[in-house]
This record gives sequence, C-alpha cells and structure tokens, in this order.
Amino acid sequence: MDFPQTFTSRPELPITRVASYDGHPGWLVTRHATARQVLTDPRFSARQELRRPIFKPVRLNGPREPAAPGWFSAMDAPEHTRYRRHLHTWFTARNLRKLEPRVTEIARELLDAMDDPADLVRDYALPLPSRVICEILGVPYADHEYFEAETAIVAAYEPETASAAMIRLTAYIRELVERGPKDGVLAELIENGSGLTHEELANIGLGLLTAGHETTAHMISLGVLALLEHPDQLARLAADPELMGTAVEELLRYLSILHLGAPNRVALEDVELDGVLVRAGETVTVSLPVANRDPEVFPDPERLDLARPEARENLGFGHGAHLCLGHNLARMEMAVAYRELFARRPALRLAVPSDQVVLRPDAVVFGAISLPVTWG
Ligand code: HEM
Repeated sequence: MDFPQTFTSRPELPITRVASYDGHPGWLVTRHATARQVLTDPRFSARQELRRPIFKPVRLNGPREPAAPGWFSAMDAPEHTRYRRHLHTWFTARNLRKLEPRVTEIARELLDAMDDPADLVRDYALPLPSRVICEILGVPYADHEYFEAETAIVAAYEPETASAAMIRLTAYIRELVERGPKDGVLAELIENGSGLTHEELANIGLGLLTAGHETTAHMISLGVLALLEHPDQLARLAADPELMGTAVEELLRYLSILHLGAPNRVALEDVELDGVLVRAGETVTVSLPVANRDPEVFPDPERLDLARPEARENLGFGHGAHLCLGHNLARMEMAVAYRELFARRPALRLAVPSDQVVLRPDAVVFGAISLPVTWG
C-alpha cells in the first residue's frame, strides 16, 4: 500500500514550523511524547472559533464562531466535560458488549448478500458502521435504507455531492430528535432527564455520525487490504484468534487514517514544547501517522506486526480530553468485521493487483475508494 506523503515525511525535529495552506504559520508535532503532551495540556485549545486548519479543508467549514450547542469536539472544559459526562456511560466497553451480537449479525447479513467479486468498500466497510450508527441513534428500521444510502454519499469522495447529502442527513437527524427516537443513546439521554435541548441532541447525533462512520469504514477496508498484503500476518491471526485485540491496535497504528490535520489545537498562552516557544494564538497540529511511527516508541515502525507488544501505545484515537469517544465501539466493530469476514470467506483475496487499488491520499480520512475482492 502506498501511504500518503503525510505518513512518510518525518521532519528532523519533534516540532517543526509549517506554513498552512492559507499562509498562516503553525507547528507540526511528530514525536509521540510531544503529541501526548499537547493533547493533555489545557493550554492547547480545541475551540472552533480559535482553530485554524493547516491543510486546506476538503469540505466547507462554518464561519469562525463558537461551536454550535452539542458540538463538543470543538469545545474546551468545562462545556466539553459536561457533554462527555452525559455520553460516557453509553460508550463504555461494558455497555457496548451488549451491542456486539447485533454488530455480528449485521456483518453476517452483509457477507451473505455479497456477490463474488465484490467491492468491499461499498458492500461491507461502508454499510456496516452505517447500520451500527442507526442502532446508536435509534433510526427506525423503515429508514435504514435511506440512512445507509445517504451516509455512503457523505463518505464519497466528491466534496460537493457529499456536502449536499450531509445537509439532508442533518435535517433528518433534527427530525428524528423531534419525533423522539425509541432506543439508542439519544433516547436514553432524553429518558434519563439529561436536560439537553433538541438542538444539542441533534448536534450530538450528527457529531457521532460524522466522527464515527467514515473513520470506521476506512479502518475496516484498509485493514483488510493491509492483511491481504501481509499473508504471514493474516495466517498468524487465523491461527490465534486471541491476537485480535493487539491486531486491531497495530492496524490503528499502522494505518493512522486521520492524517490530515486532526488533531488541531491553538495555544492559549506562550508554551515551551521540546525547547521551542509556541506563542499564544499559534496553531499546533499533531501528525498521528508520524507519531505512530516514532521509532522511540515503536521499533521498526514501518513493519506491520500484529503481535507488537507496544501496539496499545498508538495514538490512532488521539489522546487526552478529546480521546475518541467511540474508541471502544470502533475497536469492537473492527474486530467483528475482520473476524467475520475472514471466517466466512477464508479464501478472500484481491481481485486486482495490489498496486491497482485506488486510494484517497488527499482525503481527510485516508482510505481506499474501492476494494475489489474475490473468494471463489
Ligand atoms: C474524536 C479517531 C471512530 C466518535 C476522535 C479523535 C480521533 C478519532 C483521532 C480525536 C480528535 C481530536 O483530538 O481532535 C477515530 C478513528 C475511528 C473513530 C480512527 C475509527 C476507527 C469513532 C466512532 C465514534 C467516534 C465509531 C462514535 C460513533 C468520536 C467523537 C469524537 C472523536 C464524538 C470527539 C471527542 C471529543 O472531542 O471529546 N476520533 N474515531 N469515533 N470520535 Fe472518533
């Protein structure tokens, strides 16, 4: 697999001055230890009205004003903490164990419906997390097909078509909240008297969808590609299913799909980082792929090793207060997706030479546009 340049160019220093796409100066952090430091230090803010992207946004961003109510990924404490507290219990590994049989059922349904040859992105990796998000948001069964089709368009590559579908989905989620979902996380927030407004609930739902769909989908399909490209590792996993937990961590490290400018923070005051003075107001972006290939933490980092002892140190889900809220869910979805696919299609292989798989190196979420596979 050809990784984007953002993975392979390691600056000499752990923190480097970079010019953003619109010329404003910022910093790029590539050392694992420094990345963790930035992501845990409250002097670096995630507030939407302060942040400036260093990479050109693929989709249109809103104006530089405070995040809408409920859009907590672009807030700092104490507002950010308040929302996380409301959502925390639902996303614990313990609570999500209840959802695993349903995720397994969805994976099996999709595999049973898949024709040979198949496009694994279209037929498996995109619909699986989309159907899971339906369960989480309490989308009624009758609307599943609509929801799945729209999420597939949002995750597509063409920014204008994707933005139009996002507008439709935003309206749909607002309506769903008005109607009152019957189950899932939003229903629970309503029932347990969280006091969250409809606007907050709708934005929370939308945030979960945008953060959780495309990311999980591309981890599933690129993970499969990486495993097919490393048959020795795949055989190891088949021989020892207990390896799945570490395998998922290593794939998160190796694939680091959030490669363009997330996480992105702003210094609220002057801060010294690795001997460099970051001034108040300057942007600091953490490169997850390069930090995840830091040889100080991951020896021989270019090697995919499903039993890598330090794989859990990966920063694929970020770190600190904004650590991915859905990390337990995404880990479970990935494990189920790989397990079911390779168990039910043990002869799975690429239907085209590996160098003909079309990747999307310039999309915010790195992934494959399609993944032709066969098993006959
Ligand atoms: C935040 C990665 C799946 C919900 C994040 C962050 C990363 C990340 C790196 C931190 C961004 C930052 O610090 O600015 C991923 C990856 C996923 C995944 C690689 C798939 C393998 C999910 C899923 C959900 C989810 C399934 C929920 C359905 C969120 C939310 C945030 C977040 C709500 C914001 C957290 C906050 O700001 O407090 N994700 N994510 N993610 N993720 Fe995920």
